[in-house]
Amino acid sequence: MKYKIALLKGDGIGPEIVDSATRVLDKTGEKFGHEFIYNSLPAGGNAIDKYGIPLPEETVKECLASDSVLLGAVGGPKWDNLPGDKRPEKALLGIRKALGLYSNLRPAKLYNALKDYCPLRLNNAFDILIVRELTGGIYFGESGRRMGINGYEAFDTECYSEPEIERIGRVAFEAARKRNKKITSIDKANVLESSRLWRETMHKLKNEYKDIEYSDMLVDNAAMQLVRNPSQFDVIVTSNMFGDILSDEASQLTGSIGMLPSASLGISSLGLYEPIHGSAPDIAGQGKANPIATILSAAMMLKYSFNLNDESECIENAVTKALDNGYTTPDIGGSLNTVCVTDKIIELL
Ligand code: IPM
Ligand code: MG
Repeated sequence: MKYKIALLKGDGIGPEIVDSATRVLDKTGEKFGHEFIYNSLPAGGNAIDKYGIPLPEETVKECLASDSVLLGAVGGPKWDNLPGDKRPEKALLGIRKALGLYSNLRPAKLYNALKDYCPLRLNNAFDILIVRELTGGIYFGESGRRMGINGYEAFDTECYSEPEIERIGRVAFEAARKRNKKITSIDKANVLESSRLWRETMHKLKNEYKDIEYSDMLVDNAAMQLVRNPSQFDVIVTSNMFGDILSDEASQLTGSIGMLPSASLGISSLGLYEPIHGSAPDIAGQGKANPIATILSAAMMLKYSFNLNDESECIENAVTKALDNGYTTPDIGGSLNTVCVTDKIIELL
């Protein structure tokens, strides 16, 4: 089979890590008889430099015409002083919205080989799937600046509709069915009205999924429980902003933020796959970037968008073996550079 993949390499370490992932995809394709055809498109800071906007229309059009999208990371200090709607991050938010990618899967698991890099002293390993709502909430609510009674002010609004909550809830419950059948819905229902509707809607849904063990948790408590005992979680379902914050927290528990992949999905098979980390401008171009999060994101693409489960597992196994052998970048104790880690993973495929 042939698959058309749009590449949004982005800024900073983005191009390096995407190149690693496409090399791994090519080797996988060679092994299993698939062809991946890439189309590199501008997005983020590089698009601002070239076209004056973070997300050119052509990029959206080409992504929509692809089978899937692989993204590196966007942003950097060079563009930090631009107004909100002209910043590189807008490319990411815009593409998620334009492709209707409302569900963001962020698996966080502690590999055996990385136990010593987890900042906690844990008795049990953990394997968590964070299901983050991605196209609603405070990220996309009404926002602005105005003169208020106490002076100049700025505001952002959190708004969630029942259908938006229900559809992300279903994604999480279905995912839990394929895992350890446990869901924690995280909100701030003691304070926020949007969280109260979130909780009510999840409660209606849980009646349909009686085989799943369900519980609610307030987000401040969840932040604490994640460091107290991460193995109590299986699937976490939460809003856009809480998911953003908790997934960074969870990633650090796996030893390095350079380990976490993600899949952003909508109603069709067209998804967007990206590491959860940023563009790390401080180490760009130095070969220090850990390519594993992006390589694992490519593995998620094979599984979720193309239904190539054996191929996906093959990449995951190669990554596990690379970790077991200490073929890693310095962030997780190794001494190899980005290209050498990639070479090793390709060898292990
Ligand atoms: C992420 C990032 C983005 C987000 C930023 C870069 C817009 O932090 O994917 O987690 O907040 O969603
Ligand atoms: Mg984030």
